[in-house]
Amino acid sequence: MKMYVSMSYGLVVLLLLIISLWCIEAKMQQLEVQQLLKRLNKPAVKSIKSPDGDIIDCVRIYDQPAFDHPLLKNHTIQMRPSFPPSGLLDENEESSSIPQLWHQNGRCPEDTIPIRRTKKDDVLRANSVERYGKKSPGTIPNPTPSYSQVFLNGHEFAIVFARGGKYYGAKATINVWNPTLEQTYEFSMSELWLIAGHTEQLDAVEVGWHVNPGLYGDNRTRLFTLWTNDSFRSTGCYNLDCSGFIQVNKDIALGAVISPISSYGGPQYEITLLIWKDPKSGNWWLQYENLSPLGYWPSSLFRYLSDSASLIEWGGEALDLKSNGGHTSTKMGSGHFPGEGFGKASYFRDIQIADQSNHFQAPQGINNFITRPSCYDVRHADKGYIYYGGPGRNPNCP
Ligand SMILES: *[C@@H]1O[C@H](CO)[C@@H](O)[C@H](O)[C@H]1NC(C)=O
Ligand SMILES: *[C@@H]1O[C@H](CO)[C@@H](O)[C@H](O)[C@H]1NC(C)=O
Ligand SMILES: *[C@@H]1O[C@H](CO)[C@@H](O)[C@H](O)[C@H]1NC(C)=O
Repeated sequence: MKMYVSMSYGLVVLLLLIISLWCIEAKMQQLEVQQLLKRLNKPAVKSIKSPDGDIIDCVRIYDQPAFDHPLLKNHTIQMRPSFPPSGLLDENEESSSIPQLWHQNGRCPEDTIPIRRTKKDDVLRANSVERYGKKSPGTIPNPTPSYSQVFLNGHEFAIVFARGGKYYGAKATINVWNPTLEQTYEFSMSELWLIAGHTEQLDAVEVGWHVNPGLYGDNRTRLFTLWTNDSFRSTGCYNLDCSGFIQVNKDIALGAVISPISSYGGPQYEITLLIWKDPKSGNWWLQYENLSPLGYWPSSLFRYLSDSASLIEWGGEALDLKSNGGHTSTKMGSGHFPGEGFGKASYFRDIQIADQSNHFQAPQGINNFITRPSCYDVRHADKGYIYYGGPGRNPNCP
């Protein structure tokens, strides 16, 4: 009897202990979430509500998250590249045609930058507060003969690449689509990569459009950037979700919805992306469309990219979580195979690389890297069009 009482007493104590530990953990997580939100959402001079539900905060340029980085404490913003590559973009195009939806409801004032506000739910959707805004480790496609056997945790690629040189810039024009996903924790992206280093320790910057409900809470097509200096092991993140990228442009918000997008058999809409290394500062500048440069990744963030890139890639990436047993039906690009051609398949065109003197030209000798051609494929066509993408699951990709 006595034994029984003390045992049940012990059980109650244990239970209480578990409950209180659980409460403490929940409280700690809440605190962590609040701290992260405070770090990400800087005081705004003005806030703009976008028709897509985003809130865009206009934050003073020196208040942006980059300056939380210990290495950047004394960093003086480079407001313009010392050497803007000229003749690459049509300078006569009107800059009023900024393909971002929030512009319908306002603009940010001078000396501020637009930042998409991070909501509590955005953070709660992440695996952990620690991993918010980060990409899975080891998911940079680094094509080697042995690499093709490695299935990257469900990351599938249909890309072309240039390697073997020293690259100081890259460019592409991509048409924009809204691929559907099979489930919320998958994603689909179309992008341009600049990479340097070794498999274990890759420096990379990436830019393009993606659909990523895990990150944003919706299935819209958004502009993104991404960087790492250790193959996404512990550094780097999307957009301004950690300090790294320094933004100077007041008209373009990273992570904002791109509009309009292409339709199957209908009008096609493109974006042009350009990354180049400033020969004076060494910073990697990003230009979006024909607009004034968006900002840069400071050279000091990187070990290998501080010199040059050794691998440039263009194409699509889709995450296959195999939640229905077979291959995911998550689409890449337009969701149609490259063979369907213009107006139906997604493409990159006018891809270029830059040499040390910032001279841009078409790359010599590009190769394909395709993890599963029966699910997502690549096809080279004339006039510099490279079609890529596919439907994912289909009779040949069960
Ligand atoms: C920033 O400047 C202060 C004052 O000059 C100096 O003490 C500090 O070491 C500098 N920090 C870095 C990271 O350079
Ligand atoms: C996004 O798409 C997935 C897959 O079709 C769906 O399950 C999810 O509900 C969608 N999310 C939103 C926020 O619309
Ligand atoms: C990589 O980035 C992290 C985080 O920004 C930084 O602390 C570290 O110094 C960087 N490493 C190199 C080799 O530059």
